[in-house]
Amino acid sequence: MPELFANPITATTRYCAVYGHPIKHSASPAMQNAGLAALGLNWRYLAFAVHPDNLREAIAGAKAMKFIGLNLTVPHKLLALEMVDVFDESAEIWGAVNTIRFEARDDDGNWRPLDHFPGEVSGEIRSHGFNTDADAIMRSLHEDLKLDVDGAKVLLLGAGGAGRTAALKLAAAGVGALFLANRTHRKAVELAEEIQLRFPKVTAVAAYPGNLTVDLLLNATSLGLKAGDVSPLDEKHFSFAQAKAVYDMIYRPAETPLLQAAKQAGCRTANGLGMLLHQGAKALEIWSGRPAPVAVMRAALEKNIYGGERAHV
Ligand code: ATR
Repeated sequence: MPELFANPITATTRYCAVYGHPIKHSASPAMQNAGLAALGLNWRYLAFAVHPDNLREAIAGAKAMKFIGLNLTVPHKLLALEMVDVFDESAEIWGAVNTIRFEARDDDGNWRPLDHFPGEVSGEIRSHGFNTDADAIMRSLHEDLKLDVDGAKVLLLGAGGAGRTAALKLAAAGVGALFLANRTHRKAVELAEEIQLRFPKVTAVAAYPGNLTVDLLLNATSLGLKAGDVSPLDEKHFSFAQAKAVYDMIYRPAETPLLQAAKQAGCRTANGLGMLLHQGAKALEIWSGRPAPVAVMRAALEKNIYGGERAHV
């Protein structure tokens, strides 16, 4: 097997990391280290199980050790809003932080990513929070399903963190109608109200679409992650024949029961691998200021998650 990195870890190696709880199934280290190696950077990307009670200290620790940046995953994305020094517009708009970049002032007093400073960094370091999830959803829907969201009708299952980001981003991108279904109905109602307030042109309702056909059925619940999970779609309310395309944010297994059924019904289907890829690629660009080697990162993800098999979904 070829070595991932041409150079071993030394005293000048820089670090990025992902914090989550749990973290052991994360495919981000495989994807990001492949990306770092392809860019020829003397960095490494690590993964840490950080309990939410320790998140503030863990972010401060990375700052003190002059990490380049962090990714945050479940359950930290909302908590981190209270813990970063400044927000990028993306974190502000979508109300969640999944990427932190550490920065220091250059000789002219401008804040620069730590990557900009080859030697010792002295002075204050700040944490800058970004959200790369929202754009990644759109990019994956476009690439993997050829979906044009402008004026589209969408049935979204799930109103948790991922569902909320997807709903708001779809609304901002100009979907025509959003139908929201969630186990806890109240959360879907609150999300529909928020969308109506922020994006009055979009029709948002906490209900299935009746007999209407939708351009996209999007699963943002966690149902399908575990073997034996039931489908997140209640077919009493909606049949696959009513959906032109089905996207499942879950990427492990490659084909969830939802995607299997959708495929059998003739829908275009895609899983969430593209979303995972693009949120990570964008984070690497934010840290390094360089275009991410997306093809290399995708191959590393597929190898890590599917054992080298391409996911034909
Ligand atoms: P994430 O950040 O991944 O979105 P989350 O905020 O915990 O995680 O949201 C999980 C989503 O999956 C929610 O929509 C949740 O429904 P509730 O709001 O009712 O909790 C949904 N979900 C989780 N387990 C479920 C189950 N067994 N049946 C139906 N929906 C479920």
